[in-house]
Amino acid sequence: ADTLGSAAARTGRYFGTAIDASKLDDPVYTTIAGREFDMVTPENGMTIDATEPRQGQFVFTNADRIVDWAAQNGKRVRGHTLLWHSQQPQWLVNLSGGALRQAMLDHVDGVMTHYKGKIYAWDVVNEAFADGTGARRNSNFQRTGDDWIEAAFRAARAADPAAKLCYNDYNIEDWTSAKTQAVYAMVKDFTSRGVPIDCVGFQAHFGSGSPYPDLRTTLRNFAALGVDVQITELDIPSAPAATYAAVVGDCLAVPRCAGVTVWGVRDPDSWRSGDTPLLFDGDGGKKPAYTAVLDALNAA
Ligand code: G3I
Repeated sequence: ADTLGSAAARTGRYFGTAIDASKLDDPVYTTIAGREFDMVTPENGMTIDATEPRQGQFVFTNADRIVDWAAQNGKRVRGHTLLWHSQQPQWLVNLSGGALRQAMLDHVDGVMTHYKGKIYAWDVVNEAFADGTGARRNSNFQRTGDDWIEAAFRAARAADPAAKLCYNDYNIEDWTSAKTQAVYAMVKDFTSRGVPIDCVGFQAHFGSGSPYPDLRTTLRNFAALGVDVQITELDIPSAPAATYAAVVGDCLAVPRCAGVTVWGVRDPDSWRSGDTPLLFDGDGGKKPAYTAVLDALNAA
């Protein structure tokens, strides 16, 4: 196969990218995205500040542009993200206690209902654990009670039973880290108690130190809990070809690894553009990492 999406599809997987609505008018961008990827994640269009800028008043302008573009081009969508400590509108920041808990659940319901039946998987909760420890991140949501994540997943299942429900985080790729172990314990607890969760997203915003020998072990161990695993926001400084191929190989080695998403199309589109971490250069040319990833997919 001669594109990332079609090569991944040979293995029953997808290959996706983050898409920003502001770039859908750029023909170089849409040509590459349309050709190479078969899964799309809105990079900014579905954050809480974008979709509910005033309480109870939902705005889907940018998110709809991306979801419509995906539908017109035959691509599936990962919804990103319903509940995150970042990108919160001021009205939400000002709430606490029971009012915040209710607003949180209403947000999940409002956004998921708008997109009911159109989303492959939702990042229901994003980045709820602290770095360096096994503790929860001290966010406003967390201060409504330890059970906020469970409540969010239950509300999400009720709103759109067809969507896969994911927990998504970074720095959980190394199996031995306290953060990874804490997320694993939560997912294990959820699956054992019947709290609805279908997938775990490993963002994979990697540093330049490589490779990542534990990633495959981590993916396998989470998958053994009975959830899908996904690489959701992959980027690696300087885009070393061998490291990119190894990460994709780790997904290919795990039957329940559903697919890989890179966090942007061309290097200048990246949130860390100075690191040139993506598969296409500023002119839209394929970088060595592109070829390495395509070859890895085709070899599977
Ligand atoms: O939309 C405004 C624009 O109107 C304004 O002129 C401009 C000036 O700075 O800012 C624009 O908003 C920015 C937005 O990206 C769109 O470009 C925000 O300031 C900026 O904070 C935002 O950054 C995003 C970041 O999340 C924070 O939301 C990045 O694009 C996005 O790649 C990054 O993605 C996150 C994932 O969602 C979660 N995991 C980590 C990952 C990297 O931080």
